[in-house]
Amino acid sequence: MTQIATVATQPIPGQKPGTSGLRKKTPVFMGRHYLENFVQSIFDVVGAAGKTFVLGGDGRYFNDRAAQVILRMAAANGAARVLVGQGAILSTPAASHLIRLNKTDGGIIMSASHNPGGPNEDFGVKFNMPNGGPAPEGVTEAMYKRTTEITEYKVLEAQDVDLSRVGRHRLGEMIVDVVDPVADYAALMETLFDFPAIRAMFAGGFRMRMDSMCAVTGPYAVEILENRLGAPKGTCVNAAPLPDFGGLHPDPNPTWAKALMDEMFGPSAPDFGAASDGDGDRNMVVGRGIYVSPSDSLAVLAANAHLAPGYAKGLKGVARSMPTSAAADRVADALGIGKYETPTGWKFFGNLLDAGRATICGEESFGTGSDHVREKDGLWAILLWLNILAVRRQSVAEILGEHWAKYGRNYYSRHDFEAIETAKADAMMAALRGSLAGLPGRQVEGMTIRTADDFAYTDPVDGSVSQKQGVRVLFEDGSRIVYRLSGTGTEGATLRVYLERYAPGPDGLDHDAQAALAPVIRAAHRIAAIAEHTGRSAPDVVT
Ligand code: G1P
Ligand code: ZN
Repeated sequence: MTQIATVATQPIPGQKPGTSGLRKKTPVFMGRHYLENFVQSIFDVVGAAGKTFVLGGDGRYFNDRAAQVILRMAAANGAARVLVGQGAILSTPAASHLIRLNKTDGGIIMSASHNPGGPNEDFGVKFNMPNGGPAPEGVTEAMYKRTTEITEYKVLEAQDVDLSRVGRHRLGEMIVDVVDPVADYAALMETLFDFPAIRAMFAGGFRMRMDSMCAVTGPYAVEILENRLGAPKGTCVNAAPLPDFGGLHPDPNPTWAKALMDEMFGPSAPDFGAASDGDGDRNMVVGRGIYVSPSDSLAVLAANAHLAPGYAKGLKGVARSMPTSAAADRVADALGIGKYETPTGWKFFGNLLDAGRATICGEESFGTGSDHVREKDGLWAILLWLNILAVRRQSVAEILGEHWAKYGRNYYSRHDFEAIETAKADAMMAALRGSLAGLPGRQVEGMTIRTADDFAYTDPVDGSVSQKQGVRVLFEDGSRIVYRLSGTGTEGATLRVYLERYAPGPDGLDHDAQAALAPVIRAAHRIAAIAEHTGRSAPDVVT
């Protein structure tokens, strides 16, 4: 016999308003009533009675136990059925796909993305809508509000469900279907990409290194790359998901995926390298001896997507977040398709994808994806690159070289200043915003400022407006600086400075991005008086 307990609690306002989920230190999540309060707030807002949800996470510390709590609460709140990944594992894009494939009422994803995991690291929970995408601001605001008023939650008094094997269970009145986390996702990838062509490329000796960073994509990468596409065993490294990601920082960028970078720039580099993050939605791709910046990757994917069967009819449009370089815009112009510039965060792409205005989307923060799901998708991007390489039979360096020769090159870099005292970061941004009107016409580092503003976005589909999405300074020569504070950090404030400079020809500037951007970097420090406000003269992370 199972019984529903109604537990008295008190409000613990948890969620930063405006963010797409709740992300906190793991001990906070494990604290009394904390997870329960947030989960009850989700169910109170979206309703659970009679509904079907998807549940899974990136396998980080507390993932398994949190899943059991969420299942007991779903049952107590009257949910009809929950599809849960075996071992409570689902990559974020695979969860998005399962929500859509099974036409469910949404899903709960347990992840703190690329943030480290472990008893003293980060944990997170977010709700995705029936379209498979992160809940929009109105819904997350309502959940936040609910966490400030909640007085009780419901939980079933029952033992854990066996999530270790695929099959059907009952939890009270609720059905729990434990599903293979990889199978449906892999099948979707087979419909989009030319698997025989990629298989033939591997059979012909093409070598790849896939670094799953001890995070969730390991089982997906082994099944798809090694088992289905015939990449040699051992192509995928760090392929077993670990609760603490092996102590690594599962963020695929040159800093945190240094081992991959070293191999790709070393003497026995394979043809292609890739990495993905904690929950599998981010990707980094590297050629032999050449790094592909995420902004360039988006542009190359947009220009070549028609080479993959799933995109053979062409793209409807390309969308990028505002801080992402304009490289993809040049491709959209050449193709004569729509181009969109959205605020930072994947949720802003959802309406464009749902409305059929954009097919491919991307962010400078190693996120790329398409209308096949409603999240960014690391392995998707890696497979599209493989498809393009298989069809064009050129190296990554050759493909990038031809791309720059045709479209020009948007040199690009992001400088992050981490764990700044919040008050200082806020004061810097306030001063910068206050100075915007006086900037146009000013000369800095030999460049003239053309415009300066605070990015505001009007959603072309539903008309909703998002203000203050980042300060943009545009120069007469097309160079650009963007300043914004991170919305995902968990310690102090993180200032992100995005730097861009355009060279029309293939050899217009120094080939090293940091060297090519040197005057823009100096201008960025002067315009915002970064050192004066924050005491920092150099960034912590450069991507
Ligand atoms: C960061 C990235 C952003 C991405 C988000 C979630 O957000 O910059 O592009 O959508 O993580 O992966 P930020 O910390 O800058 O607010
Ligand atoms: Zn992620």
